[in-house]
Amino acid sequence: MLLSLFNKLFHRSFDAKANWIKRFASFPGDWRAVGDVRLTEQQYRQANDQKKQILSDTLLRFVPQPAKKHLLDGGCGHGDFSDHFRQMGFRVTGIDFMEDAIRTARQRYPQCEFALSDLADLKLPHRFDAIATIDTLINVVDETLWRKSLQSMADHLAPQGFLVIMERLRQPDETFDLPPHVVFRTPDDYRRSFTEIGLTVIHHERFFVQAQNLSEDILVIQPAL
Ligand SMILES: C[S@@+](CC[C@H](N)C(=O)[O-])C[C@H]1O[C@@H](n2cnc3c(N)ncnc32)[C@H](O)[C@@H]1O
Repeated sequence: MLLSLFNKLFHRSFDAKANWIKRFASFPGDWRAVGDVRLTEQQYRQANDQKKQILSDTLLRFVPQPAKKHLLDGGCGHGDFSDHFRQMGFRVTGIDFMEDAIRTARQRYPQCEFALSDLADLKLPHRFDAIATIDTLINVVDETLWRKSLQSMADHLAPQGFLVIMERLRQPDETFDLPPHVVFRTPDDYRRSFTEIGLTVIHHERFFVQAQNLSEDILVIQPAL
């Protein structure tokens, strides 16, 4: 109770970018730079493999022919998921607001494009057929920046495009004592905010990530018809 009150107050002044830069520098070249530090490397890889499978299955339902379609990976970290989307056939642009992450991603995955950018203030020269953001919006703890991020992604989505959000959501009655860089939102938080900006949540599924021993959610959103 006290911890969540402290977190609510602290979230307002929390410098998310500085926190990420420090974290990335603490684990140079290491998966923990962006992954859940409580996991072993093997658990991290197993969790990512499962998430990639679910992302593929879901994306292919809505974008059955990814070849030549352009996908934006928002908050790409070191680009592991960006490269998965490329292997699915998408042309991929990954963005992150950490310079070190973008440098690492470019070195590891030269077949993808990467750009330094803040999700809340995207200024990319085109719209995307698909936008995916994985375990990233849970780290946009500031409500104003979170809404700006949703708007910014909406502004970069093609009229027939799909936005896919994969992260842990919470049920309205669930409470968690989370560290200051993490916030779990409810499906209704997303539904309401997307409706306000002219998009609709068309798919929601919860799945259990065995290797992480927790549930995550996947949402698919599209411009309202
Ligand atoms: C938990 S990591 C996940 C990275 C990657 N999506 C993955 O799953 O491997 C979150 C990433 O989002 C990035 N990030 C957080 N807030 C961001 C923002 N507002 N704009 C761009 N990137 C952001 C962080 O720098 C970090 O690389």
